[in-house]
Amino acid sequence: MFVQWSPLYSVGIDELDDQHRQIIDMINLLHEALPKRDSAAEIRQVLVRLVEYTQKHFSAEERYLQQLHYPALETQREEHRELVRDLREILLRLKRGEDISVRKLLAFLKNWWITHIEREDLKYASWVRRHRSELSPRT
Ligand SMILES: [Fe+2]
Repeated sequence: MFVQWSPLYSVGIDELDDQHRQIIDMINLLHEALPKRDSAAEIRQVLVRLVEYTQKHFSAEERYLQQLHYPALETQREEHRELVRDLREILLRLKRGEDISVRKLLAFLKNWWITHIEREDLKYASWVRRHRSELSPRT
């Protein structure tokens, strides 16, 4: 497997962990399509799905963090915006018929997600853990 999800990446929120796993699955699909003959259409299809799903995930994550008044939300938003912009640019280049290096794209995606989860997402995970008692209504 090209990228493997690990419990160490868990942000402690099932829905968001699940979305991270789905994204990793799609990156692995992209990786598996690589050695196939005539894989261009398949690669494009997976990539379109990956971009759509990534945007859906970022919205869910940002909505969640906003509800909790997470103080570093802007850093999250900034990184998310940058990735979406880069991915859209790549899709556009594919649409125009330009050749892109899928190998480089895969290395970039793997590095982006692992770094982002480890550096930014785990930061909100521990913030949420520390503030959970104040955040949830006491009964
Ligand atoms: Fe994030």
